[in-house]
Amino acid sequence: MDTSTIVILDFGSQYTQLIARRIREFNVFSVVLPCTVPLERITALAPLGIILSGGPSSVYDADAPAADPAVLALGIPVLGICYGLQFMTYHLGGKVEPAASREYGHAEVSIIKETALFRGLPATLQVWMSHGDNAVEPPAGFELTAQTANAVAGIADESRKMWAVQFHPEVAHTPQGMELLKNFVLDICGAKADWTPEHFIQTTVERVRAQVGETGHAICGLSGGVDSSVAAVLVAKAIGGRLTCIFVNNGVLRKDEFAKVQKTMREQLGLNVVAVDASERFLGKLAGVTDPETKRKVIGNEFIAVFDDEAKKIFEAEKSAGEEIAWLVQGTLYPDVIESSSVHGPSHTIKSHHNVGGLPENMKLKLIEPLRDLFKDEVRRIGRDLGMPAEIIERQPFPGPGLAVRILGEVTKERVALLQEADEIVVSEIKAAGLYRQVWQSFAVLLPVKSVGVMGDQRTYAYTCAVRAVHSEDGMTADWAPLPYDVLRKISSRIVSEVRGINRVVYDITSKPPGTIEWE
Ligand code: XMP
Repeated sequence: MDTSTIVILDFGSQYTQLIARRIREFNVFSVVLPCTVPLERITALAPLGIILSGGPSSVYDADAPAADPAVLALGIPVLGICYGLQFMTYHLGGKVEPAASREYGHAEVSIIKETALFRGLPATLQVWMSHGDNAVEPPAGFELTAQTANAVAGIADESRKMWAVQFHPEVAHTPQGMELLKNFVLDICGAKADWTPEHFIQTTVERVRAQVGETGHAICGLSGGVDSSVAAVLVAKAIGGRLTCIFVNNGVLRKDEFAKVQKTMREQLGLNVVAVDASERFLGKLAGVTDPETKRKVIGNEFIAVFDDEAKKIFEAEKSAGEEIAWLVQGTLYPDVIESSSVHGPSHTIKSHHNVGGLPENMKLKLIEPLRDLFKDEVRRIGRDLGMPAEIIERQPFPGPGLAVRILGEVTKERVALLQEADEIVVSEIKAAGLYRQVWQSFAVLLPVKSVGVMGDQRTYAYTCAVRAVHSEDGMTADWAPLPYDVLRKISSRIVSEVRGINRVVYDITSKPPGTIEWE
C-alpha cells in the first residue's frame, strides 16, 4: 500500500510521542526519528511532511541537538514546534534571544495572518507554552503570523512551505491544537487518512516474525491486564506456538483471578500458558513486612525468581530442540518508557515488576516490545481490532504488587481473602451501575483499623474497608469520582453484611495530587 508518511524529528521534547499519537488520530502514519539522523534516512521514507519537535535545549547550548539544516531545503512542507521554531529561525538567518525567564503554562495567542496552518481557527487561541529562548526576528522571507503579548508565537514562509509555532499544538491544553495539526497533515501535506490499527497490527506482526526468525522462541509474563495480553496476542499472531506465556499467582491477585485469567488466555485467546501457583512462596516472604516499598521489593524479587525458574525450564526444553536465541515479550507502553531523550541516546527502563535483570546472561534474552510507541487507549483499540474479549480490553489497571499495596500493614492470607471479597463487591457493583468503563480505577482497600459496630443484637469489632474510585487520563493525576449515593450505599451494605470481618466502609475523597491512587 502507498502509505502517506509524516516524519517527526525529535529534539528531545517530552511531547514528541504525543505529536505522533495525534497524527495517528487522523489515521495517518508517522515516524519519530532522532533529529540527528542522516538526511538520506528521512528522504528514503519519502515523507509528505516533516515536523520539528520541541526540545529542552537552547539553540545556543554547546550540545544543542542538531538536525541537518538541509531538511529545511528539501521542498517538503515543514512544521516547527517550539524548539523547532527556534531551530528554523536560527538556521535560516533570523534572530533567537535567550529570555530572562522560562515561559511556561497557559498563554493567549493572537493570530495576525491567516496562513494555511491557521485556516478555520479563531483569531485568539488559548495555548500551552514551554520555552526559554525567544525568536525575536523571523528569517528573511518569513513573516510573523501569530504573537503573544510579549513574544513571537508563529512565523511562516508559505512560498517555501515552512510554518512554525512557538506553542505546543499537540497537548490537550491547546484546545485548537488538533485543528492546526490537521491543517498541516491533511491539507498542507495532503496526507491520506488511511492508516488504521489494522495496518499497525499487520506491520507489527511482520516485524516480529522477521526479528524472531523461523526458529526463535519467546516468553512473555502475563499479568491478566490489557498491555501484556495485547502484546502476547500480537506476538502469538507472528510466531504462534513458539511463544510461551508465564502467568504467576503471587498470592495477591483478585478473587478467582488465577483461574479466570488462565481460562481466558487459553480458551479465548489461544495462548500457550504456563501457570505457576507461587502464592505460598510469596506470602511466606511477605510475612511480617509492613513497609510499602519493602512489599514491592519482596514481590518484585520473588517474581523474578519464579519467572527465572520457569524461563529456564522453557528454554532448556527449546535448546534441546536446537534453539539458540531467546526473546522476552513485554507490554511496555509509551508512558512506561523513560527515555532521557532519543537525542542523547535512548536510555531504557524496563517495568520494574517485570524486570529481567535476574535472568541468566547466557540466555541471550532480547526484548520485543510491540506497544512501545502507544498510549493505553490506543492499545485498547488494537486489542479490540484483534478481536480480544471486552473483559480484558476494558480492564482497569491493576498494580504489579496487587492487593499487597491495598492491605495496609501486614499481608496475611486471611487479610487477602477479606479484601478479595470486598473488592469483588466494589467492582461488581460499579459494573452493575454501568460505571466501570467511566472510572479509571475502582477498588477496595483494607485498613488495619478495628472499630465497633452492631449487627443484629451483637456488638462487632472488626476491620474498616475504604472504597476508592478515581477518574484519570493516565494515572499521573486523578480526581476522586463522585459515585452516586445509591451505588455507594449498595457497596457499603453488601460489604458489611457479606464480608465477615469488615464492619465499616468509608469512601476516599482524596485527589492526586496530593494523594496517590493506591494507598501504599
Ligand atoms: P499511584 O498510587 O502512584 O498510582 O497514584 C498510579 C498508577 O500506578 C499504579 N501503581 C502501580 N503499578 N506497580 C505497578 O505495576 C506498582 O508498584 C504500582 N504502584 C501504583 C496504580 O494502580 C495507578 O494506576
